[in-house]
Amino acid sequence: MCGIIGYNGFRPAVPILIGGLKKLEYRGYDSSGVGVLSSQGEIVVRKTKGKIVNLEELIKQKPIPVSSLGISHTRWATHGEPNHVNSHPHSDCTQSIIVVHNGIIENYESLKTALQEKGHKFVSQTDTEVIAHLVEEYYKGDLFVAVKKAIAELRGAFALGIIAKDNPDLLIAARVGSPLIIGVGKGENFIASDVPAILDQTKKIVYLQDGEMAAIYKDKVEVFKFSGERIQTKVQTVKFNVDAVQKQGFAHFMLKEIHEQPNVVTQIIKRHIKGNKIDLGDFGLNAPELKAIKKIDIVACGTAYHAGMVGKYAIEKLARIPVSIDVSSEFRYRDPIINKNTMIVAISQSGETADTLAAVKEAKKKGAVVVSVCNVLGSSLVRESDGVLYTHAGPEIGVASTKAYTAQLAVLFLLAIKLAHVHQTISDKEYKNILAEFRKIPDAYVKCLADQKSIARIAKRNSHFGCFLFLGRNINYPSAMEGALKLKEISYIPAEGYAAGEMKHGPIALIDEYRAVVCITPESDVYEKMISNMQEIRARKGNIIAIATDGNLDIKNHATDVIYVPSTHNLLTPLLAAIPLQLIAYHIAVQLGCDVDQPRNLAKSVTVE
Ligand code: AGP
Repeated sequence: MCGIIGYNGFRPAVPILIGGLKKLEYRGYDSSGVGVLSSQGEIVVRKTKGKIVNLEELIKQKPIPVSSLGISHTRWATHGEPNHVNSHPHSDCTQSIIVVHNGIIENYESLKTALQEKGHKFVSQTDTEVIAHLVEEYYKGDLFVAVKKAIAELRGAFALGIIAKDNPDLLIAARVGSPLIIGVGKGENFIASDVPAILDQTKKIVYLQDGEMAAIYKDKVEVFKFSGERIQTKVQTVKFNVDAVQKQGFAHFMLKEIHEQPNVVTQIIKRHIKGNKIDLGDFGLNAPELKAIKKIDIVACGTAYHAGMVGKYAIEKLARIPVSIDVSSEFRYRDPIINKNTMIVAISQSGETADTLAAVKEAKKKGAVVVSVCNVLGSSLVRESDGVLYTHAGPEIGVASTKAYTAQLAVLFLLAIKLAHVHQTISDKEYKNILAEFRKIPDAYVKCLADQKSIARIAKRNSHFGCFLFLGRNINYPSAMEGALKLKEISYIPAEGYAAGEMKHGPIALIDEYRAVVCITPESDVYEKMISNMQEIRARKGNIIAIATDGNLDIKNHATDVIYVPSTHNLLTPLLAAIPLQLIAYHIAVQLGCDVDQPRNLAKSVTVE
């Protein structure tokens, strides 16, 4: 939800802090700030409302003295409106200790009251400021000890970076419930909310775990449990490179990531299909345990939830195992019925979504086995799970999820076939046939992307409509939901995804010549039903964009515009429909001049409830 960078080394800190922050701006951009300990021993803070360009402008006007120790922060507001006072870093009463924070301190009000009664003066409405004053309260010259005592009183989720005036060689980091990693350099060390933010500085990473804090010096890193027990740090070398997180000539990260999808699925095929066999590796359950699964509960949020909806159709159709699916924020509070034969599949691109993490913890308390489908190695969700199916889509920077979504669909599809094979609900012939169809997806994607110019024209022609309805049936009902989310979250146009069979139960009242309806209408056993819906829409002057199977000329009689996708197995049609849906949303948002990669009010990872 927010982004944190810290630096302790020998080089000027500010360019490193700002450069890293820019790579984290997708996590939140309501306000930003930087704080350093100058070589004269002064804490110097610059912070402002709005994006990081505003902070850079402020620093130009009010330069920061040279320093090689500092912290910085880009904010998605949780407590206190986005303004200068509420932006981070926050400091104690004497401006000697400064803190940057990602997360929520749930007991901050009681702590704030107690500190105010002791004479502490607060200037902001944030929960974070409490941390600075609490450290001050315990500070007797040893910053590490003061932070350790302070965080023992905090409840909630936090990733922290802290420096203090009288501790010129020390950067403190701590985390529980929010991501924070340590970058290990030569004579310098870093902290960041995620790996891509410091990849241009180092590829050597220590993944700080929940309940751990670190004393970070220029030339060493010491990690401890909150209890004080020293931990042997495990330095890992990340594989992906800086290019992976740059735009590589595309106008937006989102467009780059849309175009990466053929390769993403190709890599999934290479990794998981050996000959004519699916090899999902050891994802926490062996064949007998998979055979014992009698029920699957899928939990996820947003786009990941839509992927889970598709997964439900595929698993039930192929493996005949009952699948329930919940948005994580509902699952965790509905006291779900779970037993030892229940497998929870938690889907999350970031692996840091607070509600999904909480849902998984709730399920584990009830004895479920948890397999996560996740895109970020070493994320909190992965550590909470009994097994993980990585999507290996590479860093996804655009706030609107694209390649991670189709990677989730691909992995869930393979899981469905694997379960069907273990439960012997499909024949060897069907198994081979469906895998053969799956292998064709990357080429089908290339064909879909080759059509981008005409999709852009169709999108622009429809970008004036003030409301969109997305309709699909059966396994493409989730595609309709996802298409609506993609459009609304980057263009801010109201859009609803609906099961087409539901249209006459209300949404048809929306239809007139001022609305656009996207109908996902591939060849399938519900095709004729979709045509009926389209006729009902046309009868009311609705404008239809149809996504249909190559070669279907009849559809032109029922739609204003048609976007074609190659023919494929019915259960794979959501994978293909995803690309036109993503491109429709993308080109409409661009046409409307929206901030495609960093839409207003959103953040890439919702690490607070
Ligand atoms: C998707 O485009 C949205 N940005 C959002 O709905 C996202 O899918 C959701 O927040 C879940 O994120 P996760 O996959 O990282 O858990």
